[in-house]
Amino acid sequence: MRRDDHDDDGDDDHHAVTARRLRVAVLAGGRSSEHDISLLSARSVLEALDPDRYDASEITIGRDGRWELGTGDTAAETLPVPYDGGPLERLGRVDVVLPILHGPFGEDGTVQGLLELAGIPYVGAGVAASALAMDKDLFKKVMRDSGIPVARHHTIRLGDPVASPLGYPAFVKPARLGSSVGISKVEDESELAAAVALARRHDEKVLVEEAVAGIEVECGVLGNRQPPPVASLPGRIDTLEHDWYDYASKYEEGGMELVVPPELPEATIELVRRRAVEAFVASECEGMARVDFFVREHDGEVVVNELNTIPGFTATSVYAKLFEASGIGYAELLDRLIDLALERHERRSHLRY
Ligand SMILES: Nc1ncnc2c1ncn2[C@@H]1O[C@H](COP(=O)(O)OP(=O)(O)OP(=O)(O)O)[C@@H](O)[C@H]1O
Ligand SMILES: [Mg+2]
Repeated sequence: MRRDDHDDDGDDDHHAVTARRLRVAVLAGGRSSEHDISLLSARSVLEALDPDRYDASEITIGRDGRWELGTGDTAAETLPVPYDGGPLERLGRVDVVLPILHGPFGEDGTVQGLLELAGIPYVGAGVAASALAMDKDLFKKVMRDSGIPVARHHTIRLGDPVASPLGYPAFVKPARLGSSVGISKVEDESELAAAVALARRHDEKVLVEEAVAGIEVECGVLGNRQPPPVASLPGRIDTLEHDWYDYASKYEEGGMELVVPPELPEATIELVRRRAVEAFVASECEGMARVDFFVREHDGEVVVNELNTIPGFTATSVYAKLFEASGIGYAELLDRLIDLALERHERRSHLRY
């Protein structure tokens, strides 16, 4: 739906475009193990959306996949599929959707596909970029094809022998998940089978990656195609007493520290920012992404680890902190993301299929 489609909200038509608050629906929760993290991010977003500009509502998706409009006593069940004239009838008419969902069934292109079918502008990467970035195997292949350094990896599909041809230590991970769920650091062959079995609980496809020795840095990207997307200042992830950036380090109080900017040569910082934008463009992202890197110990090479199309999105999450340090506060970030969603929708509405 386009912004100017509304004519039934009591405003004068010419008045409506400028004076009417934008109707925003925040999608939160979802079916993945990152459900609770999504709820925290969505809460933060709802608190930060300026009520003078936005008429915001929350749609909660349960772990069982059911969609609910509002919470508590006012909860009304809605459906993620077109029926009775389409989901818009049930959601109320919205101008833009913010899918603040992590992992499968939210960050992987499925919800984005639904919103495409419904014709609703939405924040963040489209279908293909979402699916690509969610799949660590396919993503690395596209990066390699674009000349962007990534760690060597080996893919284990159903029926494949369980082996680590890249040696040890190695990281074993489900191809499509996040928050370090199902990931193990494997020191030698005796630990491999259990690590693969753990990863397989979350995905049929499993990656074995060479362990990259170095520091971890993350960089935010914001924008569409034109003007070109911008990179935030990068930040170094200090995992403190944790050996790597595991679930506990990510979510326990005091589990990590973000150092912005990292203590790296200026040229390396610039390379991180450039590669963040290159990875964003090569994977067809729009809106936002957080690109995670290793700066390799032995040669200082800037290696892309992964790209998250819907990064943790509370006001104190890494993505927000990186842009805060770069002069773009949380509320402004949301304004910009919503504008980018509307810009893309308007731009693509002129395409003929
Ligand atoms: N090849 C590797 N070499 C060294 N460390 C690694 C490697 N792969 C993963 N790690 C460690 O595991 C962490 C989680 O891995 P990764 O970022 O791939 O997973 P994720 O669950 O998708 O993360 P996110 O929560 O950012 O979506 C990394 O931040 C890093 O600490
Ligand atoms: Mg990561």
